[in-house]
Amino acid sequence: MKFGHFDDANKEYVISTPRTPLPWINYLGSQDFFSLISNTAGGYSFYKDAKLLRLTRYRYNNCPLDNGGRYYYIKDGDTIWNPGWQPTQTELDSYSCRHGLGYTIITGSKNQIEATLQAFVPIHDNCEINRIILTNNSSSQQHLDLFSFVEFCLWNAQDDASNFQRNFSTGEVEVLGNTIYHKTEYRERRNHYAVYSVNRDIAGFDTSREAFIGLYNGFANPEAVLAGESRNSIAHGWQPVGSHHLKVDLAPGASESFIFVLGYCENPKDQKFEAPNVINKKPANELLAKYQTDEQVDQAFQELKDYWSRLLSTYTVHTDDEKLNRLVNIWNQYQCMVTFNMSRSASYFESGLGRGMGFRDSCQDLLGFVHLIPERARERIIDIANTQFEDGSTYHQYQPLTKKGNADIGGGFNDDPLWLIAAVCAYIRETGDFSILDEKCAFDCDFSRAVPLIEHLRRSFRFTSTHRGPHSLPLIGRADWNDCLNLNCFSEEPGESFQTFGPSEGPVAESVFIAGMYVKYGTEYAELCDQTGLDEEAAEVRRNVKEMETAIEDAGWDGSWFVRAYDAYGKAVGSHTCEEGQIYIEPQGMCVMAGVGVDDGKAETALKSVEQKLETKYGIVLLQPAYTKYHVELGEISSYPPGYKENAGIFCHNNPWIACAETVLGHGNRAFEVFRKTCPIYLEDISEIHRTEPYVYCQMVAGIDAPTFGEGKNSWLTGTAAWTFTAMSQYILGVQPTFHGLKIDPCIPDTMKGYTIDRTFRGVRYHITVDNSAHVQKGVKSMTIDGSPVEGNVIPPVQDKTDVNVVVTLG
Ligand code: BGC
Ligand code: NOJ
Repeated sequence: MKFGHFDDANKEYVISTPRTPLPWINYLGSQDFFSLISNTAGGYSFYKDAKLLRLTRYRYNNCPLDNGGRYYYIKDGDTIWNPGWQPTQTELDSYSCRHGLGYTIITGSKNQIEATLQAFVPIHDNCEINRIILTNNSSSQQHLDLFSFVEFCLWNAQDDASNFQRNFSTGEVEVLGNTIYHKTEYRERRNHYAVYSVNRDIAGFDTSREAFIGLYNGFANPEAVLAGESRNSIAHGWQPVGSHHLKVDLAPGASESFIFVLGYCENPKDQKFEAPNVINKKPANELLAKYQTDEQVDQAFQELKDYWSRLLSTYTVHTDDEKLNRLVNIWNQYQCMVTFNMSRSASYFESGLGRGMGFRDSCQDLLGFVHLIPERARERIIDIANTQFEDGSTYHQYQPLTKKGNADIGGGFNDDPLWLIAAVCAYIRETGDFSILDEKCAFDCDFSRAVPLIEHLRRSFRFTSTHRGPHSLPLIGRADWNDCLNLNCFSEEPGESFQTFGPSEGPVAESVFIAGMYVKYGTEYAELCDQTGLDEEAAEVRRNVKEMETAIEDAGWDGSWFVRAYDAYGKAVGSHTCEEGQIYIEPQGMCVMAGVGVDDGKAETALKSVEQKLETKYGIVLLQPAYTKYHVELGEISSYPPGYKENAGIFCHNNPWIACAETVLGHGNRAFEVFRKTCPIYLEDISEIHRTEPYVYCQMVAGIDAPTFGEGKNSWLTGTAAWTFTAMSQYILGVQPTFHGLKIDPCIPDTMKGYTIDRTFRGVRYHITVDNSAHVQKGVKSMTIDGSPVEGNVIPPVQDKTDVNVVVTLG
């Protein structure tokens, strides 16, 4: 069953009912100011950091689930309704929600009045714009009351949700004309406030939630709206809100627009006040002046659309498969941008409180984002490297606001260091900017100890080389990519964190997955050394990589697949000798991507085993058989009921690893099949089963052992986005940035006749035509550049041209 449809021309998903299987959300914002918005206008806004600078309040796990947002109430006689249905839930005569790239447009109608909410964050300003357009489609004059509503969060979302003994006394606001200023804590240590304004004269306002809603009412039936009259309340402590009341008279056929702006403003410390305890409104006035007219809003909206068109033009494909085009050209790249911005902080499943930017997450997100805005990728790499420790190990997370490592979690996730190599190599392959290697990066943010970035990479690699266990495989530490494989944890008490409890580095437990990463990213590091004249180091790295391959062949091969790990007792995990959890997906994907076992058939056998033992109709599960009981020596993985999350869920992130691995072996048919099974766009028709948004990946789909097999969870913030883009754009469609130029090496289904790709690479626009009339899965027979045949399949760097035509014939 579908709950909407894709509108590719407008790059939108159009939801046709407010009753989606779960709230289906979108993200507004591209740089510093962000909002989450659901199809019923729920969600919240923050500046830079979802934990520390949250403008509006949101209660997770609420009832109804999605409760709280930017709500606009229309009172039409005795009928009170919202264009997005929530929170009044008044049945609408028509409803649609268009989630587009960085904007959402919700339209509802009731009794011949149509109301549209257009919500977006302009490219250059720290605010969310909500334009409401009311249209009278009846044949008589209409008198309506329009009420706006947002509920302010007292900035620190953690504190806001817990420290009531203080916070019920701190709330402060100012109201001037049509503008409400939320200034809680501004009198003391904050230099910022929030502003909520409308471009029209108002009939009244409210800033006290109790006055507006009433102590015993809720969002669905605010007393002020029921009465058709604001209370003009000023909040003193308790719960500050922002609400405007506008009286609207509409002639038959007439339409009027109202521009609401919710903004974040900052003042220099010595210019905070214009009079005692009266905030300096200059930044607010400047911001609001930019969004007073429809022309101004139209222009900002157009800028946003142009921005996205420009970004997406970096990589566009045209194939016969409309769903594939839609994924690659629109939604996958969009999701890559969102994961790059958010890491795993704020979604409808991530509260924005717990994790800041993940080290491994951000490095992987960059793989899918680097072609879009390389300058931001560069900045991100440097921020990440600055948090690394001197021995090459890393914090697992850092806070976006302070850019400091998160000491609560600390380090000890032993895959983390190698992801930095992955990110930096991807950046340089995309841009050719080797100068980044000379950038001085700190250790643990101590800039007195800064060294060039290349030294950070060296230490990343060395960390793994020097932290190995009894089988010469890398020590796993607290966990590797699989946060729930906690082999040094041994937690017996509820509430202990599986990740941070126990010793960070057991001397025995090892990871074959990290071994695969070491081979893959060690090889990339050696290639980087080749490029920078570090010949001896390159040779040394290759020797180490070779040794690791031998270690994998000796101790990491189980007979028909790669072992997953060795636990703290030296017992194999992910082996046929195990009672449960005999085969895991991760080492099969990573080792084959790294090229381990390609020559002697192990890789082929491993991927066959994946197909035979882990494949389901909705994708490949993480492991089999699922753990049915808690294994204290394995940790969190066995804490989940069978089929959920890391315990044999379909963890979407590592499905593209298998797709990539299949292409390493030349299996284009299989690679595409693996891709297609988890791709949400192909699942649109079963949205009642899949439940999460059909336009973005979710982290996990319940596996075959789960009672809710096929049900998605944790949509949006997942490394699946970046890895899918990497798998599809580079490994399958085969456009691969290398240090020296663009390599074209497709591995596609043999039924695919051909396709064209437009790719901007280092300032040049390549128009690539792939001809597969030979119906092969892999292999470039010939290539021409601007009509002239060339040797091999790497397009050498081009000078003095802006456009280049490339024709690639497979065979
Ligand atoms: C989840 C993982 C997550 C980890 C780290 C676990 O509870 O299952 O998916 O990566 O926590 O926060
Ligand atoms: C989600 C985390 O964000 C990611 O870092 C991790 O690799 C996966 N879960 C698997 O545990």
